[in-house]
Amino acid sequence: MAATLGLISALLAIQGASASFSLATTFPNISACASEPITYSCENTTVIENTCCSPTPGGLVLQTQFWDTYTGFEKQGQLLPKNSWTIHGLWPDNCDGSYEQYCDLSRQYDPTPSPLVLPDGTPVPPYTGPGVDTFVAEFGRGDLLDFMKKYWVSQGSPNSGFWGHEFSKHATCTSTFDVACYGPDYKKHQDVVDFFDAVVRAFKNYPTFNILAASGILPSNKTTYSLSQLQGALKAQTGAVPYLGCGSNGTVLQEVWYFHHVLGTEQFGHFKTVDSTTKSSCSPTAGIHYFERTPTSERDVRLLP
Ligand SMILES: *[C@@H]1O[C@H](CO)[C@@H](O)[C@H](O)[C@H]1NC(C)=O
Ligand SMILES: *[C@@H]1O[C@H](CO)[C@@H](O)[C@H](O)[C@H]1NC(C)=O
Ligand SMILES: *[C@@H]1O[C@H](CO)[C@@H](O)[C@H](O)[C@H]1NC(C)=O
Ligand SMILES: *[C@@H]1O[C@H](CO)[C@@H](O)[C@H](O)[C@H]1NC(C)=O
Repeated sequence: MAATLGLISALLAIQGASASFSLATTFPNISACASEPITYSCENTTVIENTCCSPTPGGLVLQTQFWDTYTGFEKQGQLLPKNSWTIHGLWPDNCDGSYEQYCDLSRQYDPTPSPLVLPDGTPVPPYTGPGVDTFVAEFGRGDLLDFMKKYWVSQGSPNSGFWGHEFSKHATCTSTFDVACYGPDYKKHQDVVDFFDAVVRAFKNYPTFNILAASGILPSNKTTYSLSQLQGALKAQTGAVPYLGCGSNGTVLQEVWYFHHVLGTEQFGHFKTVDSTTKSSCSPTAGIHYFERTPTSERDVRLLP
């Protein structure tokens, strides 16, 4: 009995501690968003007053993924995750499908900017500092870094440069990651880590490999699939038609973009799927290859017990 009471008071003490933690603010401070109208981005744009509370103007949010068959950096241990597509990014398109890029050059961490010059003539200087992986490590987020290394794998460049590219090209144009939204307690690079968390959270909603596999659509170097077969399988689990990207004149499947309207912030809010605003680059008539990977380009990333 005494032991039980001791345990209970110990638990209460822990609860007390976590209660005071739970009063800690979020970044951005979403409690300041509570008075905003409950509305999805791009559905009632005139009412978003606090741009820290909802992505604007980039309210058409795309979670993008790649299907690559090799990385080109196999010797450096950069391998693809078996039975999974890989992360490309999380992009803030304007509601009409157009988009901004490299919106804050004070947060330029892309070693190989693309484009090097913005449409208005502003040059984007290549970044030469420490990789963004070091930012994640400095925040003690080994768990996040581990997931990124497994599932956010670049083709033709080292991963950390690709992650920096995605942040600087896209997240700097996503209003909920603006440094101003973080207030006086902002710690340098916290927005970068938070963006990577948001990308991973969105990606986990779309196990593209499994969804396709469940419809009998498996990578194959022998057979092909039709565009409507691919779209139908994905729509059946997501409620909307994503964009499918193909190379080789529309005959080789390479990417998928899931489109959303977002309620609240990208960090904490709700993503609702909507149909792609971009026409598929895959052939609507020809057979589409969903190639098997080169066996030495992939690895099993599941955690073993
Ligand atoms: C967060 O916003 C709420 C509501 O506006 C406010 O009461 C609170 O003080 C803010 N927290 C911080 C740490 O600024
Ligand atoms: C847009 O928001 C305004 C203000 O909150 C509201 O009165 C209006 O009904 C909303 N319109 C739609 C289509 O949701
Ligand atoms: C690509 O496809 C179009 C339409 O089917 C065809 O006219 C063209 O010749 C193809 N190009 C190549 C390089 O295969
Ligand atoms: C399947 O074909 C692709 C594209 O030609 C090639 O890269 C890959 O190595 C092949 N995979 C297997 C298992 O043969």
